[in-house]
Amino acid sequence: MREDIRLVDLIIEIVDARIPIASRNPDLSELGMGKARLIVLGKADLADAEYNKLWLASYKKEGHFAILVNAKKSVSTKEVVSAAMKACSAKLERDRSRGIRKRPLKAMVVGIPNVGKSTFINTLAGKDSARTGNKPGVTKGNQWIRLNPDIELLDTPGMLWPKFEDQEVGLHLAMIGSINENIIDTEELSYQIIDFMSQNYQEALAARYALTSSGDARQTLERIAENRRCLLKGGELDLSRAARMVADDFKNGRLGKMTIERP
Ligand code: G4P
Repeated sequence: MREDIRLVDLIIEIVDARIPIASRNPDLSELGMGKARLIVLGKADLADAEYNKLWLASYKKEGHFAILVNAKKSVSTKEVVSAAMKACSAKLERDRSRGIRKRPLKAMVVGIPNVGKSTFINTLAGKDSARTGNKPGVTKGNQWIRLNPDIELLDTPGMLWPKFEDQEVGLHLAMIGSINENIIDTEELSYQIIDFMSQNYQEALAARYALTSSGDARQTLERIAENRRCLLKGGELDLSRAARMVADDFKNGRLGKMTIERP
């Protein structure tokens, strides 16, 4: 990625709109020093629309360029190109004043695993049609997708690892399903999700699982297990199954659109 970054003018950094802080890798500031940056709040369809607006405003206030994207549905090439050109305007101006001949801007997508990098590129590239790299007989190497005469996108994204500088980052990544299920305690995770929902989206939680009374996270999970008939053979509550269901519903947006981290 360090090598690829040298080739580009612009870094398109995809973050998850539900956790725009935890889904960034702070090392990118150093890796992408001197490059223009466009922040893409990906999976915006799963995030709270009000907070999407607040995040955009907050980036703007800090002088960053950002857009919202639902790459699973569609990505507007026009919107991406326009935002990319704005993000590169200082460089374009510099080149112009030095008399450097105009050439297409080069951009690359970066982000942590699962934020939607490939989906974003594929959607922009019109599925796989614009790619030539993986076909047999075609020389491997960097392939560029021409978005319009002014801008080209590297067809392979740069991968960043999430940075677990504190426990909260880990928790937020787990909540959106970005951490391997085998290494997390799903029951504990479900308690955290229930607590978050109770504090921020109580009605959605109650509506989804037909909850009529409130209690602590453990009691709530028990109610959910009862209502959803998560039972073991002897009729005992299967809390582990209920916890998996809660975690799965949450990360897939079945508990509603929500934003965990606020600007
Ligand atoms: P990556 O390259 O950054 O690792 O991520 P990738 O594009 O593979 O996307 C990871 C998952 O996120 C995929 O789901 C993809 O469909 C989903 N995704 C990407 N962008 C968006 C978006 O804007 N909105 C929503 N709702 N989902 C998005 P998957 O479960 O792995 O595959 P599938 O069920 O879609 O086939």
